[in-house]
Amino acid sequence: MSKKGFTVWFTGWSGAGKTTLAMALEEELKKRNFGYVQRLDGDIVREVLCSDLGFSKEDRNENIKRATFVAELLSKNGVATLVSFISPYRALRDHARCKCHNFIEVYVKCDRDTLIERDVKGLYKKALDNEISDFTGISAPYEEPMNPEVVLDTSKEDINESIGEVIEYLDKNGLI
Ligand code: ADX
Repeated sequence: MSKKGFTVWFTGWSGAGKTTLAMALEEELKKRNFGYVQRLDGDIVREVLCSDLGFSKEDRNENIKRATFVAELLSKNGVATLVSFISPYRALRDHARCKCHNFIEVYVKCDRDTLIERDVKGLYKKALDNEISDFTGISAPYEEPMNPEVVLDTSKEDINESIGEVIEYLDKNGLI
């Protein structure tokens, strides 16, 4: 059993699969008896710790700062911390990289047409119809990672392949 803390930071557009992947990775780490695993998910963190925040650039950056603070505390104390936030701004992801222990940026890609077709939460339709504003990819920016440790494409690979790539990275780098 490894006790090395790390932070797997899933970033990407809404609906790309960040939460699904984080949940699957959590299961896999538990199966492998990794001591402590904690997920931090944008939708949940926004209900409690960040319920005062919206989706302007300033609010998103504040959201990521608070999430980073929690991820920092967890990861430096030996927890496998699995973070899933759109986190669209490079500067704040770089801030998270500086603060969190063993930071692994996982870019969860998915092409726009597939996301609009999937539209699990019905938000892309609303954004395209101008019913919601500042929507990532439609009316708000997403700055792609420059040097992510892992890139996954959920429109091309299945969940087992994607998780396999993350596990392989963790394994090769002595984190599990
Ligand atoms: S972040 O940009 O600040 O990192 P976060 O990951 O916490 O975003 O929250 C994104 C989730 O909020 C989306 O998956 C979606 O369910 C919901 N959401 C509601 N409004 C928006 C919006 N304007 N842009 C993006 N996501 C939105």
